[in-house]
Amino acid sequence: MIITSICCLGAGYVGGPTMAMIAAKCPHIQVTVCDMNQARIDAWNSDTLPVYEPGLKEVVESARGKNLHFTTDLKPAIAAADLIFVCVGTPTKSHGIGAGRAADLRYIESAARLIAEVSEGNKIIVEKSTIPVKTATAIQAILTANSTTNATFQVLSNPEFLAEGTAVTDMENPDRILIGGEQTPEGQAALEALVSVYANWVPREKIITTNLWSSELSKLVANAFLAQRISSINSISALCEATGADVDEVARAIGFDSRIGSKFLKASVGFGGSCFQKDILNLVYLCESFNLPEPAAYWRSVVEINDWQKSRFVEKIVRTLFNTVAGKRIAILGFAFKKDTNDTRESAAIHIVRDLVAENAHVVIYDPRVPVETIHRDLLDVGIPQDIINFNVEIAADPYAAVTGAHALATLTEWDEFRTLDLPRIHGLMLKPAFVFDGRAILPADALAKHGFKAFVIGKGE
Ligand code: UDX
Ligand code: UDX
Repeated sequence: MIITSICCLGAGYVGGPTMAMIAAKCPHIQVTVCDMNQARIDAWNSDTLPVYEPGLKEVVESARGKNLHFTTDLKPAIAAADLIFVCVGTPTKSHGIGAGRAADLRYIESAARLIAEVSEGNKIIVEKSTIPVKTATAIQAILTANSTTNATFQVLSNPEFLAEGTAVTDMENPDRILIGGEQTPEGQAALEALVSVYANWVPREKIITTNLWSSELSKLVANAFLAQRISSINSISALCEATGADVDEVARAIGFDSRIGSKFLKASVGFGGSCFQKDILNLVYLCESFNLPEPAAYWRSVVEINDWQKSRFVEKIVRTLFNTVAGKRIAILGFAFKKDTNDTRESAAIHIVRDLVAENAHVVIYDPRVPVETIHRDLLDVGIPQDIINFNVEIAADPYAAVTGAHALATLTEWDEFRTLDLPRIHGLMLKPAFVFDGRAILPADALAKHGFKAFVIGKGE
């Protein structure tokens, strides 16, 4: 089967960039990205894309209007496609069975119903959204039960491993592409069809094929292992602070062991992002569903350490500022969950600002990419009332405005521009003692001391 037309449902952080890359690398394939959110589609069709990623604009502009299209008109796009990627959200359920842990699959289900309604002939359906194991069976059942034509469907799993901020390079040169399919001749033919799409730019030996369940589970496990490394090093950061060891030195020393490796060992104020917490909770729920309480507890602890890391950072700020932050100005540098993205989902900054505001602090936030509206929405979502936001939360246009008159500053995102701040100028603008809480260990420790700051750095002894 030769693929000439692809449709994608969901134009978010996953669907938009991934389809743009496929279109750019496969000029012979027409790629249509659909979303029910008109504003999001309009943004994809404009000069200001809804997703900020280094290099993404160039990729989109190289193909948009030629073989890359963004639309809210889902039905014709589905009808015309040989292969349909499903990239709609799979948030954690907020109520009912499995609330707080299980994935909410309502968007996946409605996508499957829509595909069944408008499809004719042979279609390949590709799960790209991260989903619990065995979701493919549910999708297949919905497709078959709701098709009114003689359409046939092959469901594949093709999880996305791109990380935000480096999405373009990750997709251009992936560590691997993973595709799971059914162990039937039709399943294997569909799998080969998708392999041939990626083979346009990815070396064949990097394209791994497995059965459906292995592929679905591997995505959850990959994210759980990555997050586990961060919780492991963050647990050690507390021990380093207590003993006078330096967590970056420890990470470097253990990272030289090729069995451990050096990546994902940077201590921080806690991991964020749309995936890690959600996927681990999902894994926990899966373990529980299969009556495996010990593995469930083991993986749950990764999230618990992450929550603890955020709380203890706030506690450190309050205790250091003479046990009260009420009425004090605290400058927050960085609100995104990591550098080089405008995404704030599950960002540690949200929880830290919430807890500081609960202590009646006056918080002044600066982030180079996150819009004011996003910050306000995030704070409302974690329960801070609008009048408190209006009164106690300020957004600054640059780091120097943020620190003016501040009792303390806290770095929460590792933006490169924070590494080269004019420290004497900042010291001059702040109240004394000028307290710094470096939640990413990115500020130059020697220079902080030299310029008279009282600094606490995550994972470093006093
Ligand atoms: C999301 C999930 O977070 C992730 O687990 C999954 O692997 C892929 O989808 P992301 O692309 O980052 O990842 O999410 P988001 O930016 O929210 O994009 C989802 C898009 O789907 C939104 O633009 C939303 O409007 C759209 N959508 C959702 C539909 O078009 N139809 C629906 O029925 C539901
Ligand atoms: C992650 C996975 O890396 C990716 O493969 C998957 O497809 C989606 O989830 P993402 O969430 O975009 O990607 O970013 P990632 O670079 O993994 O960072 C996640 C969080 O961990 C960020 O808050 C980051 O600051 C934090 N982190 C990362 C650390 O605190 N220390 C580290 O050493 C690495």
